[in-house]
Amino acid sequence: MASARKFFVGGNWKMNGTKAEIDGIIGFLTAGPLDPNADLVCGVPACYLDYARQKLPATIGVAAQNCYKVAKGAFTGEISPAMIKDIGAEWVILGHSERRNVFGESDALIGEKVAHALSEGLKVIPCIGEKLEEREAGKTEEVVFTQLKAIVDKIPADKWDSVVIAYEPVWAIGTGKTATPQQAQEVHGKLRQWLSDNVSPDVAQKTRIIYGGSVTADNCRELAKEADIDGSLVGGASLKPDFVHIVNASQ
Ligand code: 13P
Repeated sequence: MASARKFFVGGNWKMNGTKAEIDGIIGFLTAGPLDPNADLVCGVPACYLDYARQKLPATIGVAAQNCYKVAKGAFTGEISPAMIKDIGAEWVILGHSERRNVFGESDALIGEKVAHALSEGLKVIPCIGEKLEEREAGKTEEVVFTQLKAIVDKIPADKWDSVVIAYEPVWAIGTGKTATPQQAQEVHGKLRQWLSDNVSPDVAQKTRIIYGGSVTADNCRELAKEADIDGSLVGGASLKPDFVHIVNASQ
């Protein structure tokens, strides 16, 4: 990764964990030692956001894994950015492929969520990524650029410091089939070029683009060496003590 951008690692716990298991994760993260030059954010299930925020060191960020597009109201089962902020969390993951593909979230809805979360002062980790059949059909660029545009159109010019983009090829998520560093770099480089052409060269240079999909302690260092890979978004491996190595992958 380019040294001007601070390395960023997200641990997306997805729908995993009990209080006891979360205590274990907090234990190994607190013991570290963690690279002070890396940003670390944990994506926590909604019902444990408050618990995790209270128990994690202040140097580790807490993210919700989703939120709705308005401040409050009759939206049973949803949580708002204002609620996430109210319990002291700072981040939200939006448009994860599981939200898109299991729960049917559209590009348009994800864009509206990004807009509202940013307007409420949350930092966002919007996710994009192609499915296997899309990659095999040669449509990777078309898919990720379309997903990215729907998000970027909703990001005010003065909010880019609150955005970390995650590229997560769907075929690599939870499958053990990590993209090779070259495959990931190829897409990251194109995403950065797209940002340069469609937003500004400055935004393209400063915005972190992180990779997700079967990142492990074994492959994280090779990925981190690539010029346009600024960190990772980690599912399964973020629940285990080895995660510390992933946070420290750029050291
Ligand atoms: P895995 O690391 O389990 O493949 O999950 C990646 C992911 O979806 C992170 O958001």
